[in-house]
Amino acid sequence: MANIETFSQETRVFPPPAEFSRTAAISGMDAYRALVAEAEQDYEGFWGRLARENLQWHKPFTKVLDESNAPFYKWFDDGKLNVSYNCLDVNLQNGNADKVAIIFETDSGDVSKITYQELHKRVCQFANGLKSRGIKKGDRVVIYMPMSVEGVVAMQACARIGATHSVVFGGFSAKSLQERIIDAGAVAVLTADEQARGGKRLPLKSIVDEALALGGCDSIKDVVVYKRTGGDVNFVAGRDIWLHDLVANQAETCEPEWVDAEHPLFILYTSGSTGTPKGVQHSSGGYLLWAALTMKWVFDIKPDDVYWCTADIGWITGHTYIAYGPTAVGATQVIFEGIPTFPNAGRFWDMIQRHKATIFYTAPTAIRSLIKAADADKNIHPSQYDLSSLRLLGTVGEPINPEAWMWYHKHIGQERCPIVDTFWQTETGGHMISPLPGATPLVPGSCTLPLPGIQAVIVDEAGHELPDGHGGILVVKRPWPSMIRAIWNNPERFKSAYFPPEFDGKLYLAGDGAIRNKDTGYFTITGRIDDVLNVSGHRMGTMEIESALVANPIVAEAAVVGKPDDTTGEAICAFVVLKRSRPTGDEAKQIAKELRDWVAKEIGPIAKPKEIRFGDNLPKTRSGKIMRRLLRVLAKGEEITQDVSTLENPAILEQLKEAQ
Ligand code: WT7
Repeated sequence: MANIETFSQETRVFPPPAEFSRTAAISGMDAYRALVAEAEQDYEGFWGRLARENLQWHKPFTKVLDESNAPFYKWFDDGKLNVSYNCLDVNLQNGNADKVAIIFETDSGDVSKITYQELHKRVCQFANGLKSRGIKKGDRVVIYMPMSVEGVVAMQACARIGATHSVVFGGFSAKSLQERIIDAGAVAVLTADEQARGGKRLPLKSIVDEALALGGCDSIKDVVVYKRTGGDVNFVAGRDIWLHDLVANQAETCEPEWVDAEHPLFILYTSGSTGTPKGVQHSSGGYLLWAALTMKWVFDIKPDDVYWCTADIGWITGHTYIAYGPTAVGATQVIFEGIPTFPNAGRFWDMIQRHKATIFYTAPTAIRSLIKAADADKNIHPSQYDLSSLRLLGTVGEPINPEAWMWYHKHIGQERCPIVDTFWQTETGGHMISPLPGATPLVPGSCTLPLPGIQAVIVDEAGHELPDGHGGILVVKRPWPSMIRAIWNNPERFKSAYFPPEFDGKLYLAGDGAIRNKDTGYFTITGRIDDVLNVSGHRMGTMEIESALVANPIVAEAAVVGKPDDTTGEAICAFVVLKRSRPTGDEAKQIAKELRDWVAKEIGPIAKPKEIRFGDNLPKTRSGKIMRRLLRVLAKGEEITQDVSTLENPAILEQLKEAQ
């Protein structure tokens, strides 16, 4: 992977193609600057105008931003609306009733299409079904479903009745699911019999059963099961119901529940620097505004586009840029159940060709692994496919190295399509720093400039703004409509994690480092500055993995660090001390495997350490503090050249060089 120096020395510049700018929503840098200036001159006026122009309000708001209880900001607070109404009913009024909303492709390649009219009907029936079970406004509903039309329908149905959903990614274990159900105090789980991915089946319903059997989930009254594969499931009478039975005979319309703009649309759990995941709480009005607006500004969405975002609904990208953003702007989108490498690594290119996708949004990890696959097998090289429908590409989730950017530009975008490298987070709700494809000249590896209205800057540890060319801490100076509202059940943690006292509680701390180019002011994200890893664009807390490891009765101590990885960006490397003597050889390999499986059970397969190393101890200072910076060097396989004079037990370093 290229390092920071390579990024900041990047000199290639790709101005927007004239043809693209001609029809773009924001055309040329003057148009961008005009919006930035409008936001600077009258911040509330700017956001108020956009909220009136882009959403339909049941009751108009009279106040834009309430800062009286900062950092618990409120946007459009006395306005009322319904998110599902804005995503569905508005499309029926706008002449999109017969437009295809979703082109769904299953893992095995079956394709079905559903119009906005049909989507509206299914959401209403699902919503009525939920109401028939007594689920109502303010209740929390956990969704543990595969990528499917039903998954999106479930989210929209919750929004319709004012229930707050919390989607849990299918790759999380029963234990992770249980913890989220308990923290959210959910009343129902919406799931499926099984999830099909890459020709394999994952038994979602039985994982739900296992989670509920772990205890503490008494708040759960209903489990709704979508029959996806027809695989065997257990049913608990009175608690479990098939989705098709729930919606049978339900009315095809459902009066939306009008909620305050600040009503929590969803909670989404994400990793932080402590052991327990944070329930990031998002609003209805401000969130939807930014989801819709960034679809227009960053994806330049047009009526004829066929848009495809490859994320899963279990992550924020699948919320904002699948479930809500595309529907709020009446787009046609592709939703894919499977994985990029099944039946072969040409799947994405084949799907772009068959569905004539015009906008494609994916993660750098996927691009890097598909580059390798294309190099290895020319039959699945993108040159074998007709990708001429594409007009815009995007990336998200982690820094993209210039080499991967250039390949994406050349082989997928055919040097014709702008690439939007979108920097944002679960907490930001939508894009923060990103090129505008009809305006911003692109530089590979840079997410370029903050979007209009987003006051992102780089500061030092005292919160002072740094001049361009100096790396520092990325912060946002003013609240914005789609920002996190709270950590569910934990207002204090919200304040300390995002509005720390070091910055007078006034700056939003993203948790990333960044540097701005001296000449262009362009941002390059240099990576997390906290104990959060980014593995294949999935966010993992090192403490979370450490807690999982030490929960195993044979483990005495564990320290987890990230290690650069060509494909996944970062890989998880765990240093482990057992309660018994340090294992070696085959025994060490066997125990490493057991510990990996243990972590998969505790958190989920996505958190499995790639490497495990055993020591009699960990490198510690005399006061007993684990020296993680040394572990990072060891994980990279490099020699330690730093000062180790504060290290109490230098001999340990030799032992920890060997990976299992
Ligand atoms: C973290 C947020 C944003 C949705 C998916 C991930 C990293 C995200 C970029 C980018 C460099 C990026 C940051 C951020 N990140 N996008 N374009 N360039 N880094 O959401 O799980 O909340 O993770 O992902 O480190 O803080 P998330």
